[in-house]
Amino acid sequence: MNEDLERPDAANAKASFGFADVAGETKQGLVNEVFAKVARRYDLMNDLMSGGLHRLWKSELLAWLAPPKSAVSYALLDVAGGTGDVALRFVRDAGKGASAVVCDISAEMIEVGRARGEKEADRLSFVRGNAEALPFAKASFDAYTIAFGMRNLTQFEAALAEAFRVLKPGGRFLCLEFSSVEVPVLDRLYDAYSFGAIPILGGLVTGDSASYRYLVESIRRFPDQKTFMGLIENAGFERARYRNLTGGIAAIHSAWRL
Ligand SMILES: C[S@@+](CC[C@H](N)C(=O)[O-])C[C@H]1O[C@@H](n2cnc3c(N)ncnc32)[C@H](O)[C@@H]1O
Repeated sequence: MNEDLERPDAANAKASFGFADVAGETKQGLVNEVFAKVARRYDLMNDLMSGGLHRLWKSELLAWLAPPKSAVSYALLDVAGGTGDVALRFVRDAGKGASAVVCDISAEMIEVGRARGEKEADRLSFVRGNAEALPFAKASFDAYTIAFGMRNLTQFEAALAEAFRVLKPGGRFLCLEFSSVEVPVLDRLYDAYSFGAIPILGGLVTGDSASYRYLVESIRRFPDQKTFMGLIENAGFERARYRNLTGGIAAIHSAWRL
């Protein structure tokens, strides 16, 4: 990883990489390897793994954001935005005053995203950067989204503090992430599917089953809905709440920087 994208204190942090515990400085490099390997097949795999469900979840995220259609200017920062899925939907659906910046640490994911977003390039830009040390001035954005990115980070607290810093007063924070299944039976079916089928599918489509084993394990290590809501509140956000999607397989957390 480029030194300028590393956080100076990351070496002191402890982190999980799937079920393994690693030093903070090690995790980001491992995560970067995962996304460098899967970038070209990332969008296809999302559809295959979730049976298209991730599209509905992202639609829910943007419906809850509900950007004003007639605003003269409305700036979204989509962090860990990868191939631009959320930001592309946003600029296509929102009013003409809306613009989006995708910030992601992976050059490979950004390259795929730039190609996808060529037609929207006047309102959609891609910036390489670390969610834990964002390359933006304070109070720059009206909204901050992060979809399936948070659990890949080394220090959630640092990322949440950065989200708070770059949002304008009155700005909105939304996080879509895999979460804890809260429906009995569904949790066992989901476990069987994710540990049994997803690494095999990932191996067939991307040639890299280990990356998809990491994906499944990282979901189980991510804090549950209420714990994560506490971290959001600790970062200074107000009116924090969450909605479960598909019984808690995923959840959207929403909060305001007031
Ligand atoms: C599962 S993908 C999500 C992509 C996209 N948001 C979506 O929903 O399709 C996770 C993304 O997080 C990015 N990422 C991991 N660590 C990061 C960091 N420290 N800062 C910014 N992006 C990071 C990866 O490069 C990858 O593109």
